[in-house]
Amino acid sequence: MESFKNRLDKNRIPKHVAVIMDGNGRWAEKHGKARVFGHESGVESVRSVVESAGEIGIKHLTLYAFSTENWERPKSEVEALMELLVHAIDNESELLMKNNVRLSAIGDLSKMPSKVKERLDGCIRFLSGNTGLNLILALSYSSKWEIINAVKNIAKDSVERKINPEMINNELFENYLNTAEIPDPELLIRTSGEFRISNFLLWQIAYAELYFTEKLWPDFRKEDLFEAVFDFQNRERRFGKISEQLTL
Ligand code: FPP
Repeated sequence: MESFKNRLDKNRIPKHVAVIMDGNGRWAEKHGKARVFGHESGVESVRSVVESAGEIGIKHLTLYAFSTENWERPKSEVEALMELLVHAIDNESELLMKNNVRLSAIGDLSKMPSKVKERLDGCIRFLSGNTGLNLILALSYSSKWEIINAVKNIAKDSVERKINPEMINNELFENYLNTAEIPDPELLIRTSGEFRISNFLLWQIAYAELYFTEKLWPDFRKEDLFEAVFDFQNRERRFGKISEQLTL
């Protein structure tokens, strides 16, 4: 069958796609391996999806790599994931550079082990001049944390009279989120047949199209991303209006 890539309307590529990468553990179990093996294979899917997103001109790709809740996993798995992140940063940075990819991170990065934080900051700096895809890693991230953090900072700035509470509106609030300057995702993908949002970008996905697939994350590759974008392009996005009001 013809690739979904050739069937895409190049003028209607979503600017921002967000992904909940789920199912690494089940994938490993299915293959009779330890959970960490699933995460390792998941890194290959990350590489595929970053490449394919760049190929079709997606501008921002946010990957939910580690949630606030993930800190509760067994210590050995948390350590393995942190180790994997360090390796992925070390091994992938040249390829990201070649592909003109920029890197950024959202989440409570102060919770990340210093080794990961240093590598991450180094890689962000290394890639900062690039102009292609912006790859955003959500690390130690949860949407409720992000929103509470924004509220705290708004309250602080109000007390210090830097802002007046009357000024608080959508735009001002968004400037206090980790995703300030990044357009909201138009498409949110979740793998592994789970139908949940799991505390991910709750504010930002207000109008996102949700795409769920049974595929486990380590099986999700280039063609799967193209298929998700193709599905997105065949939906009618009304933003609360009726069909006749939409200008094409
Ligand atoms: C969910 O699968 C996946 C994670 C918690 C971690 C995702 C991390 C990676 C893909 C690797 C590192 C990422 C980058 C950006 C290099 P799960 O463990 O919840 O699977 P399960 O639901 O089947 O147990």
